[in-house]
Amino acid sequence: MLDHPLILAIESSCDDTAAAVLCGRSVLSNVISSQKVHQQYGGVVPELASRAHQQNIVPVVHQALAEAKVHQNMLSAIAFTRGPGLIGSLLVGAGFAKSMALALQIPLIEVNHMQAHIFANFIAQEGMCNPQFPFLCLTVSGGHTQIVRVDSVSELKLLGQTKDDAAGEAFDKIGKLLGLPYPAGPHIDQIAKQGRADAFTFTKSTMSGYDYSFSGLKTGVMNFLNREQQKNSNFIQENLPDLCASIQETIVSMSLEPFLRAAKDQNLFSLVLAGGVSANSRLRQKLLEQEKYGYKICIPPLSFTTDNAAMIGVTAYYKYLAQEFTGMQITPTSKYPI
Ligand code: KG4
Ligand code: ZN
Repeated sequence: MLDHPLILAIESSCDDTAAAVLCGRSVLSNVISSQKVHQQYGGVVPELASRAHQQNIVPVVHQALAEAKVHQNMLSAIAFTRGPGLIGSLLVGAGFAKSMALALQIPLIEVNHMQAHIFANFIAQEGMCNPQFPFLCLTVSGGHTQIVRVDSVSELKLLGQTKDDAAGEAFDKIGKLLGLPYPAGPHIDQIAKQGRADAFTFTKSTMSGYDYSFSGLKTGVMNFLNREQQKNSNFIQENLPDLCASIQETIVSMSLEPFLRAAKDQNLFSLVLAGGVSANSRLRQKLLEQEKYGYKICIPPLSFTTDNAAMIGVTAYYKYLAQEFTGMQITPTSKYPI
């Protein structure tokens, strides 16, 4: 008998079909099938995402079990993302998880995707920093930008969030204006390395409290590009690295300002990054610079920042310990407050 539960976790909230097997907080396998079908549309097409999840889920789960060398009869529980996310995509993961839990007669655990991004930091692996409570987390993903105070595994308080676009959405939508493929965030990050961050200045919107607004920046960049392209039709091609570096600098500084203000006001010195945009090299670097002011910074390795099922598994592990199981009547939900 193992000391820790073996949990199969399934993540299908957006355009990645993912499955992972965890033994306690240790990841035995972490399989992700990223859907390429959306690239030609410059964004995720929900109906195509659901169909691709249906095609991918069986092979992805098989691969996760095989890589972990775990037979399904050894599993202690099945976890799945209940929300937030695209409802059609969530339904595929939830339906699969329910059927498997029912067939194996083992508990079912539902997980909040945003909580899971934060809890990715608790994965037991060499090089992971595993934050101490209480801490403040900046979750920056394609669909959300949130500042969350975390006092324990069950005490999470949302202090601020975006009122329109998320930080990742800002990267993706502005990248589309620059002609970059979807998702544009990693491309902007790469191209920015050759550019000057102070080449162009864009207006940063500010909100009351710890809230965010990124849609004004997108409009500002669009108007700027239109003006410049009227003067020089090759403006984007000739200035791409400088544009990427300047836009990245603006999004990074807009993301960090309310977060660092909240940390000061809350008197919290343990700061954590989570979500897909925490893969951004400039954001990581700028946050790490805060260590000189006495902050302890935790940033997950790249494989646990963008959507993955290991983060669902580690969150489910804590729920398993608390015996927080769910019944078969559970339904996914596109909005799921933290
Ligand atoms: O957390 P995630 O995988 O999915 C959601 O839950 O939304 O985040 C995806 C987002 C996309 O917007 C993508 O462009 C962004 O994360 N992203 C990045 C980088 N890597 C991923 N943004 C900026 N720089 C990166 N290196
Ligand atoms: Zn996510």
